[in-house]
Amino acid sequence: MTNNTQNGIEIGVSNFHALLERTQAHAVDFLNKLDKRSVSATTDTNTLRRRLGIPLGNDGIPAERVIDDLVAATEGGHLGSAGGRFFAWVIGGALPSALAADWLTSTWDNNAALYACGPAASVVEEVAGSWIKEVLDLPSTASFAFTTGCQMAHFTCLAAARHALLRDRGWNVEKDGLTGAPAIRILASEQRHGSIERALRFLGIGTAALVPLTTDADARVTADVLFKALRVSDSPTIVILDAADLNVAAIDPFSELIPIARTAGAWVHIDGAFGLWARASGQHRSKLTGVEMAHSWATDAHKWLNTPKDLGIALITDSNAHRAAMVISADYLTHDATTRDQIDWTPDWTRRARGFAVYAAFRELGRHGVADLIDRSCAHAAALANGIAALHGAELVFAPTLNQGLVRFLSPKPNASEEDHDAHTASVIASINAEGTAFFSGTVWKGRRAMRISVVNWRTSDSDVHATINAVARVLVSMGSKPIS
Ligand SMILES: Cc1ncc(COP(=O)(O)O)c(C=O)c1O
Repeated sequence: MTNNTQNGIEIGVSNFHALLERTQAHAVDFLNKLDKRSVSATTDTNTLRRRLGIPLGNDGIPAERVIDDLVAATEGGHLGSAGGRFFAWVIGGALPSALAADWLTSTWDNNAALYACGPAASVVEEVAGSWIKEVLDLPSTASFAFTTGCQMAHFTCLAAARHALLRDRGWNVEKDGLTGAPAIRILASEQRHGSIERALRFLGIGTAALVPLTTDADARVTADVLFKALRVSDSPTIVILDAADLNVAAIDPFSELIPIARTAGAWVHIDGAFGLWARASGQHRSKLTGVEMAHSWATDAHKWLNTPKDLGIALITDSNAHRAAMVISADYLTHDATTRDQIDWTPDWTRRARGFAVYAAFRELGRHGVADLIDRSCAHAAALANGIAALHGAELVFAPTLNQGLVRFLSPKPNASEEDHDAHTASVIASINAEGTAFFSGTVWKGRRAMRISVVNWRTSDSDVHATINAVARVLVSMGSKPIS
């Protein structure tokens, strides 16, 4: 082992030991206090800028001081999204083994682009990819890629779709680009997530190619709407359906819709960022019957599987199209025909070895543990929505059918209008978050403001649910709603 000298300090394994022990103590302290500290950030932007925005010195400082200073400067600037009372957006936590595997991933620091740069990273992705298909019950022959998130999983899947649809019309999009190519049409649920539009922008398909499919009262695309939209033109078409939208976890009726789209020659892509994981649950899997007939699926491990962030998954039936869209070779790279070179399946070049955290999460939970995580989250979402809706001044807007629900708060003003209720709902959400016990985000549902309840964190417990309902009750009383006697 060679030692270097930096800032007059010998750098070697012994320095790592002290530094990493110290870092571990900071991490454990943060995790231990998660349940007791405010779920909201308690340090304002100016303070964070002042603390972090120090002049960059000409000379470096010891690594331990860097870490101590970083922890001190960011104190109060982290949301408690790793904890059990964070219900905003759709943001999971990190299972213990997945967090630990993620630390090791940084420690090993291999470049998971090529087998040659990280043999274990390549093989762990092979295994984790096959476990995902097994747990989600998707075709075992589908190719896959671990991406930064569902956003880039959409990009990867839609790049494969673009390749396949144009290839079938004699056009090589990777070589000839899109100028002069048959125009691709996108039919997507009006409830789609904004990451679909961004993927279309990145791919040069453009958002003008998107035809929104209207949805029914339950936010689902109907067979009639899809059938009529497909009939309008015979241009190459991608149909994008939701395996749970972010407001109410609406799941499109796949067994009706996918055969219609396939008969019309369309490529069917599924946004299953979190909802696809309901396939792992005996209780909820029937809601996604037929989803296995799609051509591609985008999902996340960093939401409902609870790996640390930076972990999406693309799954594609046409592995030739997938590879053709992503493959790269260069003289200086060492390709290996008998093993997995991840660079050929993802939009990244140098990349993090994402498979270790997925592998760890699956092993820690086992099949039953994944199912239990899904079932518990859904039960907690229902308990939260019903418990909050039962409070004076609150109203149920959408009872969870999976892990997402909506409530709103009624203005105590006499003869309050819908606009008053909207404004009151927004200020109740802000007050709940400021109170610090729990954290929620808002949305507009059917033209009206609502508070979203999203449960995807393995840590959420019955006592988190009770503490949250009690906190919302206190906030409502402080804002003029009468307590129920
Ligand atoms: C339904 C849906 N699709 C896609 C995304 C984008 O996922 P990611 O943030 O992992 O890129 C989200 C994020 O919340 C989502 O809820």
